[in-house]
Amino acid sequence: MDDSPFLEFNNVSVNFNTEQMDVLALSDFNLSVLENEFICIVGESGCGKTTALNVAAGLIQPTSGYIKFKGKEIKGPDASRAVVFQMDAVFPWMTVQENIAFGPKSQNKSQSEVNSLVDQYLNLIGLQEFKSAWPKNLSGGMRKRVDLARAYASNPSMLLMDEPFGALDFIMKENLQEQSRKLFNLDKKTIIFITHDLEEALFLGDRLVVMTSRPGTIAKIVKCDFGEERTFALRSQPEFINMRVELRKFMESK
Ligand SMILES: Nc1ncnc2c1ncn2[C@@H]1O[C@H](COP(=O)(O)OP(=O)(O)O)[C@@H](O)[C@H]1O
Ligand SMILES: [Mg+2]
Repeated sequence: MDDSPFLEFNNVSVNFNTEQMDVLALSDFNLSVLENEFICIVGESGCGKTTALNVAAGLIQPTSGYIKFKGKEIKGPDASRAVVFQMDAVFPWMTVQENIAFGPKSQNKSQSEVNSLVDQYLNLIGLQEFKSAWPKNLSGGMRKRVDLARAYASNPSMLLMDEPFGALDFIMKENLQEQSRKLFNLDKKTIIFITHDLEEALFLGDRLVVMTSRPGTIAKIVKCDFGEERTFALRSQPEFINMRVELRKFMESK
């Protein structure tokens, strides 16, 4: 792995001008993400997390500063940086396997390549039996798994996730966190995962970025040295709990 940043925010500020008011959403946001790193960004509601992610996606241009992806300034959206939102983007008119096949098919992969990718991801998300099911007949958590497989199968260089598990109940959420980390270990990608949930961020990330309240800037970056494999048991380990308590205090003071 080379050490030059895969994605680099350099003094990025974003100001929204509306008729009613000017809102400075991000201010001097600086972050370098390495290839195959799982970065979690945590901060209170309204602090500019979605804005930062949209800048990385190329959906919003910085008012000042710049953002570079593999050394080139980002000028707009690109399929190589896939976005996963809180609301899933599964197509209701396609079955589970058709949803997963959509990305690879649109990249003109051969039918046998598409089939083997679909199989691979169905196995990873544990939904082989449901491959012919319609999304409306799946639970919220299963649909989210299809959504993740859909994003992974299109083989993006980066996954940008905006509170993807925010709308799920906590057991489903914890299961999905475990599965996402497993998926990441098996199929390394560079990930930026936004959340307001500190525990989720600590559980998932290789590094955790804490944002200040608006205008969002970076207050702290910490390494989450909990190893590659993360299971349910991690949440009750003293190092994990201590870090959560300390960061919670830190965030309150910001
Ligand atoms: N398109 C927009 N126009 C005007 N203000 C916006 C727009 N998008 C976000 N904002 C404002 O920018 C701030 C940060 O928003 P956002 O990035 O969505 O925060 P978060 O995702 O952390 O909850 C908020 O005050 C929000 O109202
Ligand atoms: Mg948001």
